[in-house]
Amino acid sequence: MEKKRIILTGDRPTGRLHIGHYVGSLRRRIELQDAGDYSKMFVFIADAQALTDNIDNPEKVRQNVIEVALDYLACGLDPGRVTLFIQSQIPELCELSFYYMDLVTVSRLQRNPTVKTEIQMRNFETSIPVGFFTYPISQAADITAFKATTVPAGEDQEPMLEQAREIVRRFNYIYGETLVEPEILLPDNAACLRLPGTDGKAKMSKSLGNSIYLAETADEVQKKIMNMYTDPGHLRVQDPGKIEGNTVFTYLDAFSRPEHFGRYLPEYVDLEELKAHYRRGGLGDVKVKRFLNAIMQETLEPIRERRKEFSRDIPAIYEMLRKGCEVAQAAAADTLDEVKRAMKINYFDDKELIEEQAKRFGN
Ligand code: TRP
Repeated sequence: MEKKRIILTGDRPTGRLHIGHYVGSLRRRIELQDAGDYSKMFVFIADAQALTDNIDNPEKVRQNVIEVALDYLACGLDPGRVTLFIQSQIPELCELSFYYMDLVTVSRLQRNPTVKTEIQMRNFETSIPVGFFTYPISQAADITAFKATTVPAGEDQEPMLEQAREIVRRFNYIYGETLVEPEILLPDNAACLRLPGTDGKAKMSKSLGNSIYLAETADEVQKKIMNMYTDPGHLRVQDPGKIEGNTVFTYLDAFSRPEHFGRYLPEYVDLEELKAHYRRGGLGDVKVKRFLNAIMQETLEPIRERRKEFSRDIPAIYEMLRKGCEVAQAAAADTLDEVKRAMKINYFDDKELIEEQAKRFGN
């Protein structure tokens, strides 16, 4: 197959990454990286976007840039194959956003469902920072600057991709084929689309204390799993239990693989058999939680170890990111040149224009 896909994705550095990020996107990125079926792959830390709703707390963003970089490396992203960079260091992205702003209406931004819910979540109502309101436009710049074809991300990013595609189509319609329409690559398993918190609530959040972080110790992970929300109606072992909305089973859907049964729970052939027993009754929560814990520890242990390893040389990580920024900036600058040429604002490289104007004025 011809190698021409360009893969790009990023995360806001507002906290350490958790297992929701892992099944929602990180795991997929490693698979993509390892499959090698692409011409370029970029993963970036969206610090400028994080500032759009944290402008009074830049220290939080600054601290989490390195946390996210460590999480990336710990998960197995390899700077030898993937360009890792920091959004704010690429000024071309601002320039692109500035022109894209003319291609989007205020009412279109107001209809963006992700922006809508985020505004509600943050109680912005009428005091929305303009930068926050327009971040879908800046995200379109992030994506198109690198001519990304494929954006591995969670379901919540779909409206951003839709908006980016509209900007691309409008730009290309007005100025001629210049930009590339990106496509989202969603997790293929429903449980991974939006992994609930350990308390069964829809979203993992720091303030709810219902997240499991990639960097968490084995003991903390085990404690959170043993306290997880299951089926409140499943009181005694012999009672029939519900799978739907049962967080332990949702996590098993997201994390378990057939070989885990052989290793940790050989009396069942697969997840279907385990679920059937739970539904019938006679299977206790503790046994299922212990199984989940074994799987989670197996998954997280190498990540934890690598994170520890990488954290021994922090200056080397900043240096790696600096080099990544250089590579990314060169790519973004090429696109910006093409954009300016298409928009006819490349006055000084356009000899024909200068000659034509000279002639018009009789010189
Ligand atoms: N909005 C994404 C998030 O909240 C981060 C992001 C910024 C991004 N620019 C992007 C993701 C471009 C994919 C592509 O995590």
